[in-house]
Amino acid sequence: MSWPFWACARASGPELQGPRAAQVAAAVFPSCERVRLLNTGSEATQAAIRLARTCSGRDKVLRFEGHFHGMHESIWFNHSMVSKVDDHGEVETNPDSVGFPIHAKDGVVNVVFNDVEAFEHALKKYKDQIVCVILEPISYNCGCLESRGDYLRAVREICTRENIVLIFDEVVSGLRMRPGSAQKYYGVLLHLTVMAKAIGGGMSIAAFGGKKGIMEHLNPIGKAAVSGTYSGALIPVLASVACLTMASEEGFYDRIEDTGNKLFAGIDGLLAKHNIAGHVRGLGARFGIYFGVENPEDDFDFRKVAAVQDKTTYKKFLTECVKNGLWYP
Ligand SMILES: Cc1ncc(COP(=O)(O)O)c(C=O)c1O
Repeated sequence: MSWPFWACARASGPELQGPRAAQVAAAVFPSCERVRLLNTGSEATQAAIRLARTCSGRDKVLRFEGHFHGMHESIWFNHSMVSKVDDHGEVETNPDSVGFPIHAKDGVVNVVFNDVEAFEHALKKYKDQIVCVILEPISYNCGCLESRGDYLRAVREICTRENIVLIFDEVVSGLRMRPGSAQKYYGVLLHLTVMAKAIGGGMSIAAFGGKKGIMEHLNPIGKAAVSGTYSGALIPVLASVACLTMASEEGFYDRIEDTGNKLFAGIDGLLAKHNIAGHVRGLGARFGIYFGVENPEDDFDFRKVAAVQDKTTYKKFLTECVKNGLWYP
């Protein structure tokens, strides 16, 4: 953007910029007809879950082990730990922080990712109790944990069959990998999309969106209340319009992908040269280094990676990065 932000705002009217950002976001994310702006990813997942609850009398949220959706009490469970799992793939729910209300975990069901049978089993067990399913279509919070084969399509079909709202948390994957983000890459249209981070290019902005029918349950038309003092603040909104527009330009992702692939191959080459077990898995502008993981098939399984991951080397790598001025995480 060659104009300063304030000049753009004055030229086209600041009050029109919020709707414009929402419109551009809707054009970039195929599942969205309407978009509501907020400030952080945590707020946006919280609002999306509330909106889902508005659409039915059900209560529980089904989430997947390892995935991260923000720091609020309705969802921050089982992100950074491996908990007990039963024979059907249901994982004991454990909070990622102390200080949660005692009953918060009753609102959540945790299941292993990439396992259709485990998903079906949980839905049968909690029949008519699950209001929504939330997931990272590519869990960059677990390194670069992609969904396997037709898994996401199966999840979509099952949610439709069971009348469950499906939420893709594209806070990290959104705008960072391909045109249309993960939902287009996997060819899965869903009820609600959450976006943040890259849509503001470093500014504090987040959003969630979906089809008109579901979004109309939001205030002021509907009864689901969502608001915030800084929601739709001008400077982040202008940054977002610029980022979303840039991401729509022809060839934008070719360069990202090309740079990423060179970087991934370079790191893989160094690991091999120095006889360090492990590899890189990346997609778009984000990747994970899987120290100690020798079989790339294991990357699809949070538990397998956690079991074989070489934490000592990873820690050493992080420490050396910081010493050399690279804040890797
Ligand atoms: C996938 C995902 N969802 C939600 C969030 C929460 O976003 P925020 O930190 O902006 O609240 C994050 C943050 O890293 C995230 O990675």
